[in-house]
Amino acid sequence: MKTITFNKQTKKADILCTGYRSLPGLKSIVKYTKYTYRREGMFEDKNWDAIFKKRLARHYDEMKWLYSELYHNDQQAFDYFCEMMHDYYEKRSPLLKEWDEAREASPDWYKGNDMLGMLMYTNCFAGNLKGVKKHLDYIQECGVNYLHLMPLLESPKDRSDGGYAVSDFRKVQPELGTMDDLAALADDCHTRGMCVCLDFVMNHTSEDHEWAKRAKAGEKEYQDRFFFYDDWTIPNEFEKTVPQVFPQTAPGNFSWCEEAGKVVMTTFWPYQWDLNYANPVVFNDMTADMLNLCNHGVDIIRLDATPYIWKEIGTPCRNLPQVHTLVRLMHMASEVVCPGTLLLGEVVMEPSKVVPYFGTIDKPECHMLYNVTTMASTWHTVATHDVRLLRHQMEAVFALPHQYTFLNYLRCHDDIGWGLDYEYLKQFGISEVPHKKYLNDYLRGLAFGSDARGELYNDDPRLGDARLCGTTASLCGIEAAEYEKNSWKLDRGIGLDIMLHAFLLTQSGIPVLYAGDEIGQLNDYTYHEDPIKAEDSRYLHRGDMNWDNAALRNVEGTRENRIFKALRQLEEIRAEYSVFESEADTWIIEPWNDHILAIGRYYNGEKLLAFFNFSENEQTAWVNEYEDYYDLMTGERKAAKAITMPGYSFLWLMTTFNKPFVKKQHPKLDRKPVENIVIEEVEPKKTTKKPAAKKTTTRKAAAKKPAAKKAAEAKEPAAKKTAAKKPAAKKTTTRKTAAKKAVEVKETPVEAPAAVAPVEAPAPAAPAETPKAE
Ligand code: GLC
Repeated sequence: MKTITFNKQTKKADILCTGYRSLPGLKSIVKYTKYTYRREGMFEDKNWDAIFKKRLARHYDEMKWLYSELYHNDQQAFDYFCEMMHDYYEKRSPLLKEWDEAREASPDWYKGNDMLGMLMYTNCFAGNLKGVKKHLDYIQECGVNYLHLMPLLESPKDRSDGGYAVSDFRKVQPELGTMDDLAALADDCHTRGMCVCLDFVMNHTSEDHEWAKRAKAGEKEYQDRFFFYDDWTIPNEFEKTVPQVFPQTAPGNFSWCEEAGKVVMTTFWPYQWDLNYANPVVFNDMTADMLNLCNHGVDIIRLDATPYIWKEIGTPCRNLPQVHTLVRLMHMASEVVCPGTLLLGEVVMEPSKVVPYFGTIDKPECHMLYNVTTMASTWHTVATHDVRLLRHQMEAVFALPHQYTFLNYLRCHDDIGWGLDYEYLKQFGISEVPHKKYLNDYLRGLAFGSDARGELYNDDPRLGDARLCGTTASLCGIEAAEYEKNSWKLDRGIGLDIMLHAFLLTQSGIPVLYAGDEIGQLNDYTYHEDPIKAEDSRYLHRGDMNWDNAALRNVEGTRENRIFKALRQLEEIRAEYSVFESEADTWIIEPWNDHILAIGRYYNGEKLLAFFNFSENEQTAWVNEYEDYYDLMTGERKAAKAITMPGYSFLWLMTTFNKPFVKKQHPKLDRKPVENIVIEEVEPKKTTKKPAAKKTTTRKAAAKKPAAKKAAEAKEPAAKKTAAKKPAAKKTTTRKTAAKKAVEVKETPVEAPAAVAPVEAPAPAAPAETPKAE
């Protein structure tokens, strides 16, 4: 039991006691000490900006409590932490502060159904940061408004783990550019209504990081920032309970450090040294590094390897309670310094371990988490053609609060790990090891009927635990079909690819594409010849963007064109209909066919039935829904009764209640700043209705398009500024014209032009059995 030390003279308590709630009689004292803080606390008398103080006051008690619990009442460290936050608040630019304000006023700014992410390696996509900036038009054309740049901070070339071994958190890898380039890119993105996400690799540093170098040189203070041991006794104890991340390529969790003559903890590669967050200096300085990135315009911080950041002997060193405390503290620190900055947790764990990282609704931790289980279950379904596991997984997701935002994806820069619900699969006679083998065989094209082209990753023959790599298109069989010049197979592969994306876009949350997937980019086998990459098969799907192929997106009938066009259409439909909003009710529909996944969504008078046929053969969804439905892709009427679907196809059927169904024109969304479109192209409408551009001045829009706000307040229209910067805008006449039409359609749905074909849907009374997520 801990005691509270309360100094009667200074009227200050040193710390609130751990678990005071369980100490009878002490609650009132604690309350009193809290009151004392407020009156004579360490920040009340500071000459700090009122906004900062207000934000700090909101979180101060909780922060102090958690911090003190973790760091044994280290008042000095906590004071330093607060000073540090203030320092970064002061350094934050006035423009970024304006965005903070706008986003604070609209905290759900990132939850709209028009969010679309893309993740990319800067060098693979465009060589360097300036190159990415040059390609922003393309990124916008893809409909992307959330750009995730993979790690780009300084990292030793031959020991970088794809940039995840950072040697300097304040410096961009020189070949990629500078911190100023990063800030300039972020600024450009913001002007276009895009936000920027960057990795923050907080679990470890590179062995070339300043701290590691000083630790190697024998400085105890720096060794204490890592986990150093004189011999293998304690490391061996750890090894008894800590699983291995790279059992084949980097076995074990510790490495011998020759220079220091000691053993150091290296959960990932031997050159990635685990940081010791039990040392408050580490937490303080790493949080400062994170805030520094935010001050360079980064809107979303991806907390790399989140579950690993606290270590304790005798545990698996994953998901320990202290991890949640640290993430909560970082969440609060960002709310104090740069509200509107989001934390994206990389929690690649079994489902029950993932959701707690959202925290609770009133004490949130991560704003967003990767939907890793749905991703892995999707590929399981591709390989088995049986949707039961995926259905089970979707039911679990649907049961979660709508406030939880998942980042949905088909492929990312990492392998596919087979973290499936094996307990559930047991009932079908499926057990873990043979099943993983089957999945890996299928997705490498070794099983009957499979044209997938993947490669194994970290095959651990002892555990039978290999994972899998490959691009979406190659895993869908497109690579094999093109190699064989088999157009029938190509159609099938493209069908599967598009169907998977349709499924991705049906889910609540933020869909994220891996750059290149929008044109069906294939595997890159050249890594086999590169000695630095050869050991790591994840490079198979991290190939350079092929810009010649990207140009083919405009050539009718090419693979690139077919996929690009289809994805754009899906994305635009998603952005257009509110039934895709995260607040929608979602539920599973029983189609009496285990090859078809059927999902329902309902929101705001719109009801969607989505069907995905994971079989390569024709299948029937045995449903019998009585409303009048329209196919969202074609606008045609279609009954939702005994629906027969071709192999690898999908269907989005929609009905509306108490309002007409309107099939909008596509492609219609243009991500150019709306002001741009209106001023340059659109004649003032002869209608009494408000021009569409005005709509974007709502708070939500302002939060999404900070440039608009910036310009408005600087009394210089954003459109003018953007147009001045971007004369190239004139080139995009056709897209803009489409956008103009879109605006018109949005404003006047019932009087839309003939091509839009509004169809009066019968308007039944609001459904008595409004579907609910169960
Ligand atoms: C994350 C990254 C992965 C990297 C690892 C170590 O899991 O996604 O690419 O190897 O962290 O930093």
